[in-house]
Amino acid sequence: MSTNGARRLDVAAIRNDFPIFETGIVYLDSANTSQRPRQVTGAMLDYFEHFNSNIHRAAYHIAEVATERYEGTREKVRAFINAASTKEVIYTRGTTEAINLVAYAWGRKNVRAGELIVLTILDHHSNIVPWQILAAANGARIEYVDIDEKGELRQDQFHELLKRSPRLVAFSQVSNALGTINPAREMVAAAKAAGATVLVDGAQGAPHQGVDVRALGCDFYAFSGHKMLGPTGAGVLYGRRELLEAMDPFQSGGDMIKTVRIEGTTYHDLPWKFEAGTQAIGEVIGLGAAVDYLSGLGMEAVRAHEREITEYAYEALSDIEGLTLYGPPPSRRAGVISFSLEGIHPHDLATIADRDQVCLRAGHHCAMPLMTRLGVAATARASFYVYTQKDEVDRLVGSIKEAQRIFK
Ligand SMILES: Cc1ncc(COP(=O)(O)O)c(C=O)c1O
Repeated sequence: MSTNGARRLDVAAIRNDFPIFETGIVYLDSANTSQRPRQVTGAMLDYFEHFNSNIHRAAYHIAEVATERYEGTREKVRAFINAASTKEVIYTRGTTEAINLVAYAWGRKNVRAGELIVLTILDHHSNIVPWQILAAANGARIEYVDIDEKGELRQDQFHELLKRSPRLVAFSQVSNALGTINPAREMVAAAKAAGATVLVDGAQGAPHQGVDVRALGCDFYAFSGHKMLGPTGAGVLYGRRELLEAMDPFQSGGDMIKTVRIEGTTYHDLPWKFEAGTQAIGEVIGLGAAVDYLSGLGMEAVRAHEREITEYAYEALSDIEGLTLYGPPPSRRAGVISFSLEGIHPHDLATIADRDQVCLRAGHHCAMPLMTRLGVAATARASFYVYTQKDEVDRLVGSIKEAQRIFK
C-alpha cells in the first residue's frame, strides 16, 4: 500500500498504455503537458476516422454519434469535478481561455473603477495578465499575496487584503512553478466571507489533486485537458450557474444563439451560450477518454503515487551538493520540483539531460513575478505523473552529476 493507504497504481501496466515510452525517453515535464494514453488517442481517432462530422446541427447518424460523445464528455467532466449541472461545464481551449472568458464576460461588467483584485505572486501568467488587462480597462487595482521562505502563500497577508473587500480573488490550487499546494478550501471560504467572487486556477489541481467544486465553494474553476492525459485544445471553465446566466457571451457567432434577426439576437441557454463556432470536437471526445482513464485509476491513487515519487525525488536531489531546491517540503507540494545548480544555467542542464533522453523543463515557467521574487531568472523543473517511475528520477540525478562533471 502507498503512504496514505490509497490503492496503489500499477505503473508498469499504465506505461504500456503510452506508446511514447517505447522511445526510451524519461519524461519529466508533465506539469507542462502530460503524455496521452492509447485510450485517449484511440477515442479521438475513432471520431476522425468513423464519425467525423459537426455537432448539434445535422440529422444524420454520424453527426448524432459525434454530438452524443461531445455532450457525453460534459457529463463525465461534471461528475469528475462534482458540479451540480452540466450547464456549469463550459468547454474552452484550456485554462488560459477559461480565465480570459471570465475576465472579459464577467470582469468587464462587474469590476468597477477603484475596486480591488487580489492575486498571488505564485500565479501563472494566465492568471495574472487577463486581470491586469481588466484592471487597466476598468480602473481597478491589483494586490499580490506574497510567499514565505518556503514558497507558501502568506496567509496573514491574504487575510489583511480580504479586509479591504476585494471584488475578485483569483489564485491557483497548485503552483506550477514550485508545486505548492495552496489551502484552497480555506482561502475560498475566507474570500467568499469577505464578499469576493473567487476564481481558482485548477490547471495543476484537477490533474493531480482532483477537485470537488461544490466542496471547494469557488465561483469559477479553470483547467486544461492536455495536462491530465487529454489532448491540447480542450479545457474547461466551471462556473456557478447564477453567475454564468448573468454574464454576456465571450465570443459570438454560430451555435451560441437562439434566434438572430436584423433587429437583434437572443442567446442560447447554458452552456452553449459560451461555445461560439465549431468546437474542438475530437479533442473534447479525447478529454472524455482522459477523464475516464483518470477516474479508472482513482484520484486518491494518483495523489499517493505522485507523493511517493516526489518524496523520493526530493530526497535524492537534496543529497546533491550545490543544488538549491525551491518550495515547500514534499508533504505540502504536488509532483513538481524546481531547483537550480550552482554555476550551471538551467538551460545548460536541460541540454545535457536531453543527451540522456531526459526531458526537463528550464525557464521561468510562465511565472516571471515569482522568479523575480525568488531572485532568479529561471529554474530547472522536474514534474511527475501517473507513469513516472523512481528509476527515471535516478536518470535525472545521473544527468545532473554529468552536468556538474562537465562544468567543473
Ligand atoms: C497553474 C497554471 N495555470 C495556467 C496554465 C495555462 O494553461 P494552458 O496553457 O493550458 O491554457 C498553466 C500551464 O502551464 C498552469 O500551470
